[in-house]
Amino acid sequence: MATLILGIESSCDETAVALVRGDRTIVAQRIASQDEAHRPFGGVVPELAARAHAERLTPMVADVLAEAGMTLAAVDAIAATAGPGLIGGVMVGLVTGKALAFAAGKPLLAINHLEGHALSPRLADASLGFPYLLLLVSGGHCQLLGVEGVGRYRRLATTIDDAIGEAFDKTAKVLGLGFPGGPAVERAAKGGNARRFALPRPLSGTAEPHFSFAGLKSAVLRAWGPLAGTDVDRADLAAAFQAAATDCLVDRTARAIAAFPQATALVVAGGVASNAHIRTALAALAGEHHLPFVAPPPWLCTDNAAMIAWAGAERFALGMFDTIDVPARARWPLDPGAEAVRGAGVRA
Ligand code: KG4
Ligand code: ZN
Repeated sequence: MATLILGIESSCDETAVALVRGDRTIVAQRIASQDEAHRPFGGVVPELAARAHAERLTPMVADVLAEAGMTLAAVDAIAATAGPGLIGGVMVGLVTGKALAFAAGKPLLAINHLEGHALSPRLADASLGFPYLLLLVSGGHCQLLGVEGVGRYRRLATTIDDAIGEAFDKTAKVLGLGFPGGPAVERAAKGGNARRFALPRPLSGTAEPHFSFAGLKSAVLRAWGPLAGTDVDRADLAAAFQAAATDCLVDRTARAIAAFPQATALVVAGGVASNAHIRTALAALAGEHHLPFVAPPPWLCTDNAAMIAWAGAERFALGMFDTIDVPARARWPLDPGAEAVRGAGVRA
């Protein structure tokens, strides 16, 4: 029987547990969203998130094992997110993973959340081999990475200010579309007239494939100000924002394809990769460059524990275990050697 990994995810506002096999079978999983707790604040409140993880995580581990009809004895290793993310939540998940590993006498795999996203396309598609070009688009990150193997990432580009998911979330807030913002913007944009507003495409056409979204976010705010705020205004501006953000991703990714010619596929992952408009545009770009396009199903793009368990299975196969004193990390770049980018904030 293929390796069985118990995965734990708690780095942001999803508490998640999954049992995944090395042959890609998802044996059982649970994802508990905290949207209700954070909605009144219009964003994730770290302290509330950490408390919710602490309350829910252990019962969810018990539920997932019960659903699979297993005990910890059947598991080969415990994989827990060890960063980057909101540190309180990361500590809850990692310490839970350590305790389970210690009590059951199983190896521990401390997983970088970004590696979870980066390898998730290989859980969805068994034919995806290395190296591939990855566009990682989430609430905290917007990067282009050359993925050369497990634990081997070359950062080709990053955002010099906001992550794209943040821009979606801020746009939703400005337009009064509620929380979480990304799916709300995508819904509102359906049927909207994107051409009504001329929004900027920051950094498009520049030689290096970096991203910038702060100016686009401000442009949405300026365009919204004088409007009456009807549903039509909302749909049109959401569509215009989504079109501009998508154009930026396509322009920058095209540059990265040229910079990483060894890529055998164009791959997108992370929460924003669940956006259908973005997926369609990237699929077309891949087609133009005669590259296969791989995007995990939308549920595997947003935060989940199956991707953490899968990254664990990949590491388990290579004997890449961690010791019980491994730290929780708020920041943890996938490519620690990447040069700082001019204008970039402190984010890894
Ligand atoms: O990967 P993820 O679940 O959590 C992080 O690691 O950050 O990504 C969450 C981000 C949020 O900013 C959310 O608004 C965005 O992904 N998102 C979307 C969509 N679904 C989630 N953005 C655009 N369109 C969507 N359908
Ligand atoms: Zn994530």
